[in-house]
Amino acid sequence: MALTVTSINTPSYASSYGHLSQHLQESDALKFLDNVLQPQYGDRALDFGCGTGNVTLDLARRIGSDGFLVGVDPDDDRIRIAQNRLQSYDNVKIIRGSISEATAFAPYDIINANHVIHWIPRGEHEEYLRKIFASLKPGGRFGFTTVHSLKGFIRDLSASQYENSYDSFLSAIGWSFSSLAYWETLLKKTGFEISYGSEEERVSGVFPDERAFLEWWEATCVGHFSAAQMAPEALMTKYDLKRNEPIPIHARHVDVVAKKPKKPNKGVRTFKADTLVE
Ligand SMILES: C[S@@+](CC[C@H](N)C(=O)[O-])C[C@H]1O[C@@H](n2cnc3c(N)ncnc32)[C@H](O)[C@@H]1O
Repeated sequence: MALTVTSINTPSYASSYGHLSQHLQESDALKFLDNVLQPQYGDRALDFGCGTGNVTLDLARRIGSDGFLVGVDPDDDRIRIAQNRLQSYDNVKIIRGSISEATAFAPYDIINANHVIHWIPRGEHEEYLRKIFASLKPGGRFGFTTVHSLKGFIRDLSASQYENSYDSFLSAIGWSFSSLAYWETLLKKTGFEISYGSEEERVSGVFPDERAFLEWWEATCVGHFSAAQMAPEALMTKYDLKRNEPIPIHARHVDVVAKKPKKPNKGVRTFKADTLVE
């Protein structure tokens, strides 16, 4: 089955995302990398859905000059920013595409996907996981952070542009948010062992002011949320947010590390990376 990889061409969103993701996705990634996934010096790594390369750079610093790192993303404009950001690293390759293109550089010790997996259509999750599994070395690990649901004012705000329907907002943008239990079941079915799993509601990020938040949310939603439709002053009043105070964003987060066993589990079919043929 051919996987759906939508090409996104949004230069201004890419640039806004690049400089504002530090407030949420990059700060999440740093905690996940250092406390949970723990890439090792010399690892061969893939940053799946690398975006503008913020987290790719963090990964590159952790695997060091003895490691090898691939960043892959379907968004041309984000890829261009990532290529500039990492151009001085000889051992880092930034490529346009998705898991199929990244398998050319397999096998990997670790695959990291920070806030990416919910962009994959639900009907393709299993096939992506099979390709990811096939791209890992035996004993290799796949770590990802994602979201199960948005909480607080950001949920209401997003729904407000879709006749107050949160589900319509999610389906317009094409995100499929899923629980830890869902991911654990699918990962085990694919042959992975779960090394770490967490699902909790928490503050995802804190933005310095309402303008930074609105610009970031429009960029993250690649236009499926329009900042122009919400004046910053109206945002503060509607959601009772305090002027001159950082804007907190809440969500239910899912963090997972899944390991490819050193020997295949009995009863689980294995696949070759390039063909997905048994
Ligand atoms: C919220 S951004 C996260 C970017 C980066 N991981 C970070 O933490 O800054 C989600 C990224 O997933 C990418 N993406 C969407 N569909 C994808 C796919 N099928 N394969 C790989 N990446 C994908 C998007 O282009 C986007 O850059």
